[in-house]
Amino acid sequence: MAILSIPEKNIELRNPSEIKAFFEERNLLFDQWSCDVIFDDRATQEEILSAYDKDLKPFMDNGGYLTADVISINALTENYDAIRIKFLAEHTHSEDEIRFFVDGQGLFWFNLENEPVFNLLCQRGDLISVPAGTKHWFDAGESDPFVKAIRIFIHMSGWVPEYTQSGLEKKFSDFNVPQ
Ligand code: LAC
Ligand code: NI
Repeated sequence: MAILSIPEKNIELRNPSEIKAFFEERNLLFDQWSCDVIFDDRATQEEILSAYDKDLKPFMDNGGYLTADVISINALTENYDAIRIKFLAEHTHSEDEIRFFVDGQGLFWFNLENEPVFNLLCQRGDLISVPAGTKHWFDAGESDPFVKAIRIFIHMSGWVPEYTQSGLEKKFSDFNVPQ
């Protein structure tokens, strides 16, 4: 279940409908999909994608999205430190960044510029879309990362990060992930 935090204001939202409304007001998307299966490490990408087909297919058809895949990051992921650094610096993309959390968790940070920075802790069942051009960064934690997520694209090439070089993420590096 997602948790939204605005660290500078000491605000925390845990109610999914409040989070949805907060996102909608800002032209961002937050939603939740459910599925009865909990996948273990042996699950293939095809098994995961087909388990969510009833939500995934209409979402992709409506949004004109063409491809989806599954990424897994865990304690055994090689080069995790380098991967983390790539996600952790504030950046934008030329297309929407859409992630559905099949399992595990991670923090998406948003800098909408005209309001305080906020983050969304995404966990199993949470769907998020970061529109093209939105300044954001992501963290799955310093150690013991666990993320199993569906990525949805129009063209994978649109996902290339453009770094803002603001260094803003450093200001929030001591944020404690809510439990
Ligand atoms: C990305 C994230 C994690 O660009 O922001 O993949
Ligand atoms: Ni990104």
